Amino acid sequence: MIKVIVNGYKGKMGQETVQAVKSDPELELAGRADIGDDLAGMISQAKADAVVDFTHPSVAMQNIRTITDNGACAVIGTTGFTDEDLAEIEKICEEKNVGVLIAPNFSIGAVLMMKFAAEAAKHLPNVEIIEYHHDNKADAPSGTAIKTAQLINESVGATQTPTVESKEQLETSSKGALVGNIRIHAVRLPGFVASQEVIFGGKGQTLSIRHDTINRECFMPGVVLACKKMANRKGLVYGIENLLEEN
Ligand SMILES: NC(=O)c1ccc[n+]([C@@H]2O[C@H](COP(=O)([O-])OP(=O)(O)OC[C@H]3O[C@@H](n4cnc5c(N)ncnc54)[C@H](O)[C@@H]3O)[C@@H](O)[C@H]2O)c1
Repeated sequence: MIKVIVNGYKGKMGQETVQAVKSDPELELAGRADIGDDLAGMISQAKADAVVDFTHPSVAMQNIRTITDNGACAVIGTTGFTDEDLAEIEKICEEKNVGVLIAPNFSIGAVLMMKFAAEAAKHLPNVEIIEYHHDNKADAPSGTAIKTAQLINESVGATQTPTVESKEQLETSSKGALVGNIRIHAVRLPGFVASQEVIFGGKGQTLSIRHDTINRECFMPGVVLACKKMANRKGLVYGIENLLEEN
């Protein structure tokens, strides 16, 4: 049995994760932690193999240090990591010989959206991303949108910019945040869980690749798989697709 602690268990994703861990015959729920709990003590007392973290971008780096200091692997669903954070996590993994998964999106549909987008960009290099989330999301643009743009950039090098530089009519930019040449637009409205559209434009045509999260159950097969795979892995894994392809 793989012993799993859920950090942030009172939250929306944490509650769903507790149920998913309890329902899987190969996983044992070894503890639950939230703000103010002694996560370090809980890990060492339970001899936990893995900690799943769905908390807040402002505490996620500290949580990774606590988890890895106490000998468990980290399955991190919390978003908002910068490139500098990822470089630091890679160092932590090497120094402590532990495994850390950073998964901007645990759902298979979202992973496929990213993969198809990277492929489509080879043929249609003009692309923008619109991501839609609930209005309580703490970071923008979403980790999924940033990761999608990174994958497209890796796939094709530079994408195309618009042929005409449009004049901004307002003080703030209406054209989105840039990852390479790719513009990302973040919508924050009640009613959404998490959706994303990757839009390609070509001569006389557009192509949209869209993923919609209907409810948070969609993330759970990925979380369960990650607990099983990361229990025996060392190093930083960035993206659940790296574990799916091993199956
Ligand atoms: N990777 C994915 O597939 C995926 C999917 C959905 C959400 N997310 C991300 O997961 C994170 C959590 O989302 P949510 O919707 O469950 O948020 P939420 O606000 O519902 O829950 C967060 C929980 O974390 C707890 N928390 C905050 N600081 C803590 C700390 N220092 N130690 C322990 N617990 C702490 C809060 O008390 C709360 O219970 C966000 O960063 C969100 O973007 C990732």
